[in-house]
Amino acid sequence: MIVAIAVPPALVSLLAWSTHPGPEQERWPGRPQLNKVSGVPATPFITSDRIDQLQNGTFKPSSKDIWVATYPKTGTTWTQTIVNHINGFPPLERGQYPFTYCPWPEVSLGLPPLRYSIEEINDFKRWEGPVGGWRCLKSHWHYADHMADAGKRVIYVMRNVLDVATSFYHHSRRFHFVYLDMADVSFDAFFEMLKAGNVDNGDYFDHVASWWAVKDRPNVLFVRYEDLLADPAAVIRRIAAHMGVELTDAFVAQIVELSSFRRMKQFYGGDVGEIVLTAVGALRGPFFRRGELGTYRESVNAEQRAWAIEQYLRKLAPLGVPRDWVIPAAAVGEPG
Ligand SMILES: *[C@@H]1O[C@H](CO)[C@@H](O)[C@H](O)[C@H]1NC(C)=O
Repeated sequence: MIVAIAVPPALVSLLAWSTHPGPEQERWPGRPQLNKVSGVPATPFITSDRIDQLQNGTFKPSSKDIWVATYPKTGTTWTQTIVNHINGFPPLERGQYPFTYCPWPEVSLGLPPLRYSIEEINDFKRWEGPVGGWRCLKSHWHYADHMADAGKRVIYVMRNVLDVATSFYHHSRRFHFVYLDMADVSFDAFFEMLKAGNVDNGDYFDHVASWWAVKDRPNVLFVRYEDLLADPAAVIRRIAAHMGVELTDAFVAQIVELSSFRRMKQFYGGDVGEIVLTAVGALRGPFFRRGELGTYRESVNAEQRAWAIEQYLRKLAPLGVPRDWVIPAAAVGEPG
């Protein structure tokens, strides 16, 4: 009994310790616990030296890099999974992660498959797709030249901000040991943090705006989470075309199945460590929670919706971002 009570806090402390930097790293003020990296709030396991390394020549980019760039909770893992299959990697075994074939170079703390050293990331052969020949890399960073200047390809995934807020809330509670003191945060309190830009990677609207500026470059492909839900085969074909890989109808159908929500929920993180951490409450709730459209209806209130619409009108409408890419039609009282 004593063991059952004592273990979770110890585990949580261990997880927190392994994913947090030392005192040399500048912190973002306030709650949740975040780092200040290039003036942006970053997840504690993303540090200033790693972002320096990515931009100062330590990281060796390749013309065969394809970045899956996203604001958090917009379909990153889904898209990585699709890219991995197009690239020729085998289906994940239980307990493997899409990171196994598509690492996240921004992460400098923790263990593989979350964290790899820049030397490991630079080992192109290790990540090279057996069919596509691409090195897939994940990013939650705002637009930066090391990802999208000439040559490298990018897939930027977008999702409406109301579902993002809802999903981000559950994510922050699940990974409370990363953010510290977030296990019991209410949705409304979390929404205030989101409004203030005090969440990983800062303000949603600024993030979208930074990538929207390069949307029409031929090496950049924009994909919507909502389109992935509505017609995954069509989006898989667009991604394959962007990677210069031809797919048979049968293989497209196979990727639809292998990247389906049901399948990912079944396999992703089904390893013993994850199961134990979830069982003892060190991880709260599932990583793949709902994978649906409109989950915001249960949590986002009228005032929060109005704030999001106002932000859209101020920051993204002038750039030409379609409203329904950011605010679902139903949230402004239209059918849809
Ligand atoms: C790149 O940044 C890292 C981390 O800050 C630093 O250790 C390294 O010396 C830098 N390299 C160059 C070539 O500036």
